[in-house]
Amino acid sequence: MKLDFPFAEVSEGAAHLLVPDIARRKGPGTAGPWPFYNPTMAVNRDLSAIVLAKWPGPLGSVLDGLAATGAWGIRMALETRADRVTFNDWSPEAIPLIRENVRRNGLAADVHRSDLRSSVREGRYDFVDVDPFGPPTPFLSSAFEGVKGSAGFGITATDTAVLCGTYPRACEKRYGARPLRSPQGAEIGLRILLGYCHRISEERNLRMRPILGFSAEHFLRALVMVSSGSASAPVGHVVRGGDGGLIAATAAERDAVGPLWLGSLGDAAVVHELQPSEWTSVVSARLLSLLKTECEMPPFFVTTDELAAREHRSPPRLDRFIEGLRAIGHQATRTHFHPRGVKTDAPPRECARLFRDLSPTGSTGDSRPAS
Ligand SMILES: C[S@@+](CC[C@H](N)C(=O)[O-])C[C@H]1O[C@@H](n2cnc3c(N)ncnc32)[C@H](O)[C@@H]1O
Repeated sequence: MKLDFPFAEVSEGAAHLLVPDIARRKGPGTAGPWPFYNPTMAVNRDLSAIVLAKWPGPLGSVLDGLAATGAWGIRMALETRADRVTFNDWSPEAIPLIRENVRRNGLAADVHRSDLRSSVREGRYDFVDVDPFGPPTPFLSSAFEGVKGSAGFGITATDTAVLCGTYPRACEKRYGARPLRSPQGAEIGLRILLGYCHRISEERNLRMRPILGFSAEHFLRALVMVSSGSASAPVGHVVRGGDGGLIAATAAERDAVGPLWLGSLGDAAVVHELQPSEWTSVVSARLLSLLKTECEMPPFFVTTDELAAREHRSPPRLDRFIEGLRAIGHQATRTHFHPRGVKTDAPPRECARLFRDLSPTGSTGDSRPAS
C-alpha cells in the first residue's frame, strides 16, 4: 500500500494500527489532509467497547460510519460481540488505510467510501457509530431515519464549548437548547445532546433510551437505543434556584436551561454488568467505576468550590463530605463530571449545613478546593 504521509504503528486496545505520524498536542486534534487518529480518544473507544460487549440488542451488523483509520471499527470487531463490521468514510485517503488496518488485524470487512448522511438512511445496521469532527447533528436525522424496528447508536460530540455553555447562541441554533456555563456545564451539555436525540426520534415516531452517556477529555459520548413507538420522556428545563441547586422550570422562565434530558444517563441494568476487559486502560477502568457508582443518582451535582464560595468557608475533604452526607441518611457519590463534584439526594440546604459543620477553618478568604 502506498501512503502519501509518514505513518507509525500503534497498538490500541486489541487493535494493531497504522496511523499518520504527525505531531499532535493533547485534546481534540484537528482535521488535516491525512486520515484522522487521536490517541486521546482511546478512552472513548475503551468505554464504548465495554458497553458493546454487553449491548442489550442484536449486533449482527454494525457500521463504523466515520471510520478515518478504522481504529474503532477494528476494536468493535475484536473486542465486542459484533458479527460483521462495515467501515465508511468519504475521504479518499482514509479508504486504503482502513483496508490496510483491516488486513493487519486478520479481519475481512466491507469498506465503503460514501457520504454517511445518504448511506445510513438505508438502515441496514443494528448499530451505527457517529464520531465526527465537532457536532454530530448533521448526521443524526438521516441516521435515525434508517431505523426499522430498533437500532443502537454511538454518538460523539466534540463541540463541547457549544454544548457546555461557552457559546450559548450556537447551542440554541445547533441543538435548539440553552446551555449553562457552570461547573455542571458538561452534564448539562450531555443532557442537551440526549434531549436533541430524543426530539429527532420523537419526530420520526421513535423513542430513544440512553444505555450509557458520559463526558471525558474534550468530548461527550452517548450510546443510545432507538426503537419504534412513542413514549413520554423525561425532557424539560431547569433554572438555578436561590439555594444554588438546579430545579425544574418551564421553558418560558427567564434563564431557563434546556430543553434537556432529565432522566437517567444510563440503563442501570446494563451499566452494572459492565466490566473492564484485558484491553481497558487504567484511566478508562477508573472512569467506568465512577460511572457505575453514579448511574442511579439524581441529575446534577454540587461542587465543594460552589459551597465554599457561597458559605465563605474553606471546604472539607471531599470524601469526608460524602461520608457526612451518607451518615445523615443520604445517598452521595463523586461524579465523573467534576473532580470536586458530589451527586446526592440531599437538598441544597442540608448540603450547605453539613458543609459548614465540616469546614475545617470556619470563615476564610481562602476557598482553594481540597481534593
Ligand atoms: C473524527 S474523524 C473519525 C475518527 C474515528 N471514528 C476514530 O475513532 O478514530 C471523522 C471522520 O469523518 C469523515 N467524514 C466527515 N464527514 C463525512 C461524511 N459526510 N461522510 C462520511 N465521512 C465523513 C472524515 O473524513 C473523518 O475521517
